[in-house]
Amino acid sequence: MELRIREMKEEDLPRVYAINRLSFTTDAWSEEAMQREFRLPYSLRFVVESGGEIVAYAFVWLIKGEAFLMTLAVAPEWRGKGVGKWFLRKIVERLKGKAEVVSLDVRKSNIPAIRLYRSLGFKVVRERLRFYSDGENALLMELQLDKIEMHAGDKGKTAEPVDR
Ligand SMILES: CC(C)(COP(=O)(O)OP(=O)(O)OC[C@H]1O[C@@H](n2cnc3c(N)ncnc32)[C@H](O)[C@@H]1OP(=O)(O)O)[C@@H](O)C(=O)NCCC(=O)NCCS
Repeated sequence: MELRIREMKEEDLPRVYAINRLSFTTDAWSEEAMQREFRLPYSLRFVVESGGEIVAYAFVWLIKGEAFLMTLAVAPEWRGKGVGKWFLRKIVERLKGKAEVVSLDVRKSNIPAIRLYRSLGFKVVRERLRFYSDGENALLMELQLDKIEMHAGDKGKTAEPVDR
């Protein structure tokens, strides 16, 4: 299985949106929300391709040395094959030197995702009560990366997106 990570293009959105609808119920993003990401200077957007087909996507925010994994999903028929782990590892590699920490919220009941994050070293830092609209709690998880050098003048600015 050959996998390739690349930046998402706007023309990828129909397929990304379809994977999102198959992956989330109440938490699915709208098409407008996804389009908006392309205009946010701190938004990073990635897809994984296999044989020209998009099999996974992720949206990450990178703000002042802190990265937040906003959403990530693997197409249902591609799950359980190591794609999610490969993808997340690549994302983390790309964030090294740009972020000191990667954070995310995950539903407490989402065992596959929690295991995936744990397998890459993410730790639960706290539980957010009734975080989701249906009342479920979230686990806030974090992965500490190496400290990065930030110049004093950089602190007030949005960090530069990686891989541009
Ligand atoms: C969570 C998700 C991204 C995992 O992607 P994936 O490609 O299936 O995961 P991988 O095959 O790379 O598995 C990596 C690790 O995750 C865990 N995992 C994956 N699927 C699992 C399952 N069904 N049950 C338990 N653990 C699971 C395992 O620890 C696995 O490592 P192992 O195979 O060495 O045991 C995928 O299930 C998905 O897209 N889910 C719907 C969207 C979602 O919930 N996204 C996360 C929102 S926070």
